[in-house]
Amino acid sequence: MKTTGWFQGLVSAAFVLSFALWGVSGVGCSGPSTNNSNDASVADTSGGNDTAPGEGTSVLPDDTTQPTPDTVTPAPDQPATGGVTWYKDVQPLIQKSCLGCHSKGGVGPFPLTSYDEVKANAGAVKWSIETGQMPPWSPSAQNTDKKDCEELEGARRLSPTEIKTITEWFDKKMPMGDPKDEKPYKPVVDSLDSIDAEVDTQTDYTPPGQSPDDYHCFLTKPVISDGKSKELTGFQFLPGVKSMVHHVLIYSVNKSYSQTLAGRYPEKHWPCSTGALINQGSFGKANLIGVWVPGTDVVRFPQDTGIPMNDGDQLVLEIHYNLSALKGPQPDRSTIRLQYAKQPVKHRMSLSLQLQFQLNIPPNSKDSKATNNRIVPSKIRVWGMMPHMHKFGSKFSVDWTLASGEKKCLIDIPKWDYNWQQTYFFKNPGGVIMNPNDKTFMTCTYNNPTDQTIRWGDKTGDEMCLTFYFISAP
Ligand code: HEC
Repeated sequence: MKTTGWFQGLVSAAFVLSFALWGVSGVGCSGPSTNNSNDASVADTSGGNDTAPGEGTSVLPDDTTQPTPDTVTPAPDQPATGGVTWYKDVQPLIQKSCLGCHSKGGVGPFPLTSYDEVKANAGAVKWSIETGQMPPWSPSAQNTDKKDCEELEGARRLSPTEIKTITEWFDKKMPMGDPKDEKPYKPVVDSLDSIDAEVDTQTDYTPPGQSPDDYHCFLTKPVISDGKSKELTGFQFLPGVKSMVHHVLIYSVNKSYSQTLAGRYPEKHWPCSTGALINQGSFGKANLIGVWVPGTDVVRFPQDTGIPMNDGDQLVLEIHYNLSALKGPQPDRSTIRLQYAKQPVKHRMSLSLQLQFQLNIPPNSKDSKATNNRIVPSKIRVWGMMPHMHKFGSKFSVDWTLASGEKKCLIDIPKWDYNWQQTYFFKNPGGVIMNPNDKTFMTCTYNNPTDQTIRWGDKTGDEMCLTFYFISAP
């Protein structure tokens, strides 16, 4: 069985080459036969080999995957002294988990900064918390549905006890309590250790406003000015109009491809569909290096890791604007700051891709699946991942079968939300070590309510099924 990929990219000094070596560079420019030579040996679309298809998401029941508190059994370790109140119990939780987005000028559709504002939205707030809709975090919690998933860094999640406190407060008709218990709200401000490059969208761009959603790509200036290669260790994205920027895909683009793009789009910005640069025969030339969603101040790569960047690299910022929190579109100019390593990092990360582009999602179908099974050829370290599907996606998971037969789960997203896709790093310091003959089994699940068969493509009405992995030598 021929499986190149995971590791070969690493031995190559040029980070960008790692893509080509997966055999995926042909996706945009050549027919499926090229890809089959690599994919068919490892893809498991037909079912019926040793890796049980459906291992993973297919056994999940409907969408009842969010943790709901058991409101019947009282928790014995919770003395009910005085009962729950707004000032004492609930406000601190709202401050911690909601105000990052639901305060004035934030991306949330309404502020939740006071008792009155929460009361005015009581029904929706209670529902959103009980169902796990809010705060937005798509991967399943450990110890709920899938006990063996890797823990992820930065989970925005209320604990079952916190959810219980809030629901109880609503059930008791929202007692206000004693204002003396109020703790002032201190927004957490996070920033990079150093700002080594800062570039922006180079224009004040106003979305057309005909529809609430607009996808636009911007080519930035070069991000290295002294001609020396760097290692990117983190970034901070600063939306111009905070309430309008819903999510951003960030690509690093090499010198010659930047020139190609600048030639194609002389204004250096253009309407682009979603995941546009994942799909245009651009592997190795434009690499997705991060996804930003509101509520993330700074994205830091794991300790001692970095992504190599070369002289002449520019960025493409693919911005999804959403106008629902605004009266009308406003001009936006967003900025990104980059942080480079001061010393050479211990683990030079590159990005590796697992994908299934042979999508054939039947009309009017529910829970239709695309899978891909990949065998790890040599020892690697995996630091995190960036799954990507479009709007018909309903679930995403990657199961990890060790060579010994033990089964684990790398990530499980029981309720895919296109708007809240993001970069996930594993909490485990040092990431996850994979050994030769381990397998990663990716499952993308879709609901297609339309009358059309949905296939792979970069339009919003098309679909994708892929995940990037941040990998390094072991
Ligand atoms: C990271 C940003 C963020 C955080 C944190 C957040 N929200 Fe939201 N919230 C949003 C956005 C954006 C929307 C608009 C719908 C969407 O895009 O998902 C929303 C929508 C809502 C809605 C409307 C119902 C809906 O799903 O459309 C409610 C109610 C809500 N949030 C409550 C909360 C509560 C309560 C918390 C804290 C427990 C919270 N949110 C935390 C960003 C956030």
